[in-house]
Amino acid sequence: MSASQPSATPSPVPPGEFGLPVIGETLSFFRDRNYAVKKHQKYGAIFKTRLLGNPTVFVKDHAANQFVFSHENQYFQVTWPPSTRALLGPLSLALQTGNVHQNRRKLLAQAFMPRALSGYIDAVQTITAQYSDRWAAQGNLTWYPELRNYTLDVACKLLVGLDQGSQTRLGQLFETWCEGLFSIPLALPWTRFGKAKRCRQLLLDEIEQTIVTRQQASEPGQDALSLLIQARDDDGQGLSLEELKDQILLLLFAGHETLTSAIASYCLLIAQNPTVWDKLRAEQAAFAEAPLTLETLKQMTYLDQVLREVLRLVPPVGGGFRTVLQTCELNGYQIPAGWTVLYEINQTHLNPDVYPAADTFQPDRFADEASRAKYSYIPFGGGIRECLGKEFARLEMKLFAVHLLRHYTWELLPDQDLSLVTVPTPHPRDNLKVRFTAMS
Ligand code: HEM
Repeated sequence: MSASQPSATPSPVPPGEFGLPVIGETLSFFRDRNYAVKKHQKYGAIFKTRLLGNPTVFVKDHAANQFVFSHENQYFQVTWPPSTRALLGPLSLALQTGNVHQNRRKLLAQAFMPRALSGYIDAVQTITAQYSDRWAAQGNLTWYPELRNYTLDVACKLLVGLDQGSQTRLGQLFETWCEGLFSIPLALPWTRFGKAKRCRQLLLDEIEQTIVTRQQASEPGQDALSLLIQARDDDGQGLSLEELKDQILLLLFAGHETLTSAIASYCLLIAQNPTVWDKLRAEQAAFAEAPLTLETLKQMTYLDQVLREVLRLVPPVGGGFRTVLQTCELNGYQIPAGWTVLYEINQTHLNPDVYPAADTFQPDRFADEASRAKYSYIPFGGGIRECLGKEFARLEMKLFAVHLLRHYTWELLPDQDLSLVTVPTPHPRDNLKVRFTAMS
């Protein structure tokens, strides 16, 4: 695939159909899991349609991904659906662009540096132990809602120092807010969006209280919030209260929804692949006496391969939307200014030339990283908007996996639908029912 500025003779726009006026093919896109697969089969690596009122071009090739990632702010600018924009708030990093985005990203990154990450390990281990003890006592359980509570508790503790966040008012408000993130932006009292919008204000009030209490405390605390309150940019400026609130809300969301999906996929895929499970346990036996640090976790190379393969096969984020700022050319097609581009993470990960038997779970394919083209593995996106929390996410997944590998086992209960619901993030339709047991 080639990617460049437009040539003197304009190239055609990509093949595809726009569908119905205004809504285009939005409904098929959300309802049909195989929408993009079918379209790619018909039109090739790049096609156009209309989504949420906008002409939208789908791309799934590592060269196209690279073009999109390396021209952020020149040809492309991040965009989110209207409901997401309204609920995240204007000061959220995910919506900031240009220099402001770069400046804020640097500031927020302080909460995800290795020193900060090391400081989070004990808290994650404690919460994981509490939850897994409870699951073992329950025996049979519907795991996905439990995993949601687990990742929310971890996010609340590490980000704002709140214990058992899922059981608090903040946790309840947060769930209703999440439900509106990808909805029709109609703010009526009974719509998902309307309820979520009300919750946004209440959530911001809760977060404000936490920030103010923290600012007045004599001890700064051990969480991301305390780092962000103290963080200063190159000009010595810190984040205002209004911005801190939007950024904390974004981090709570980003760290919760995606990680629940990733961990649930891990639990499912391991249960379906006993050979992989055996190899994982064998690796853990070699580390039985080792304390869990960033360094020892890094040495668990098979676990790393397994988690990479989980995020390849079931990426929690299916792709990223970009508005086209300037007409450009991609794969011999013209992409007009004002259109939207969707770089597809899930389809990029299913390229059979890069991943033979791409729809099967084979962690060994990650034993050799060197041969793979850049941007053919993009669970965390890429370029200047690559996931800010990617090391945090990897750390939490590893700590969760290690604790369970060492002390527990689980099997899938019969008579359940394990096919994946994909919106807002992939998870098994029947919420993953398992029998969970402590190992003697
Ligand atoms: C952005 C994936 C966990 C914070 C992104 C993007 C992806 C992604 C694909 C880029 C979206 C785009 O290009 O438009 C994931 C996955 C995760 C995960 C798969 C878990 C397995 C986290 C966590 C945090 C986080 C734990 C923080 C606590 C962010 C932020 C951005 C982002 C702040 C916006 C970055 C920017 O716009 O500069 N994530 N994420 N993510 N992620 Fe994550």
